[in-house]
Amino acid sequence: MTYNVTAETIEPHITPRTRAIIVTHLFGNPCDMKPILELAASKSLPVIEDAAQAFWAEYRGQRVGTIGDIGCFSLQQGKHMTSGEGGIVVARSIEPYSRRMTLFIDKAWGYGDPKPDHYFLAPNYRMTELQGAVVLGQLGKVERVVEARVQMAAIMDRLLEGVPGVQIPKVTAHSKHVYWKYCVRVDPDVIRGGVDAFGRYLAERGIACAPRYIQKPAFMCQILRDQVTFGKSGFPFRGPHRAGLPPVEYRPEDYPGAAKALAEVCVLPWNEKYSEEDVEYIAGVVKEAANALR
Ligand SMILES: Cc1ncc(COP(=O)(O)O)c(C=O)c1O
Repeated sequence: MTYNVTAETIEPHITPRTRAIIVTHLFGNPCDMKPILELAASKSLPVIEDAAQAFWAEYRGQRVGTIGDIGCFSLQQGKHMTSGEGGIVVARSIEPYSRRMTLFIDKAWGYGDPKPDHYFLAPNYRMTELQGAVVLGQLGKVERVVEARVQMAAIMDRLLEGVPGVQIPKVTAHSKHVYWKYCVRVDPDVIRGGVDAFGRYLAERGIACAPRYIQKPAFMCQILRDQVTFGKSGFPFRGPHRAGLPPVEYRPEDYPGAAKALAEVCVLPWNEKYSEEDVEYIAGVVKEAANALR
């Protein structure tokens, strides 16, 4: 299990109102893009790649974020590279995407145009030039950051291979995983107390892991579940603009993979500064936990 969406999991959710397919290369492991691109082409839909966690990851020799129509990278403090906050968006073409995005982040003002105006309603999402300078510095380092993480992950894989009840990350075929985090799958049929007991065991030994990652799928968070937005309006889930359309519903049974993944995943922190000894320590505690809880 890679925890990523696939063409098979996306297809049943496409409706006549679908405008784009968004895929996330979760934890730095690329999605299997070929079937996804084929599906998107068959429905004439653009593909947006969320590569927030996947700087320099590759799929069939191509960097993720440059495979679909639009690629998004996060510069939030915990990512492979950062400027504190901010992000980078790349697009296949100037029209319509790049031009529209450039306008969108800067209140849609037509700088440089003969008769500039606000062309549409848009926010001010500008990063500062100081942040931009930091990003340029970080770009020079990101390859080394990624390589160090990959190297240490290979050691971790070797040390954990075959530990009963704990599965090492499954890398997508033809891909380079860049290990934003190192995630193990904890088999609740083998490990007593499942991922929660496993996470507690690790935390007590100084490994600040995240069993169940974000705890619950986004669609179970109250904003999406109860649709409490913009006062009592419920916009955009409810309102006159949806007249004649079916209600917006996120039913857990429609997303079985998300619930299963969160119930079994334990996210281990990963870092380019890890030494072999650090990795050996973490692997040692993981094995110890698996033995103690079996
Ligand atoms: C997969 C993924 N997508 C999107 C985001 C959002 O990025 P940002 O915080 O830069 O807006 C994050 C994390 O922050 C993320 O991990």
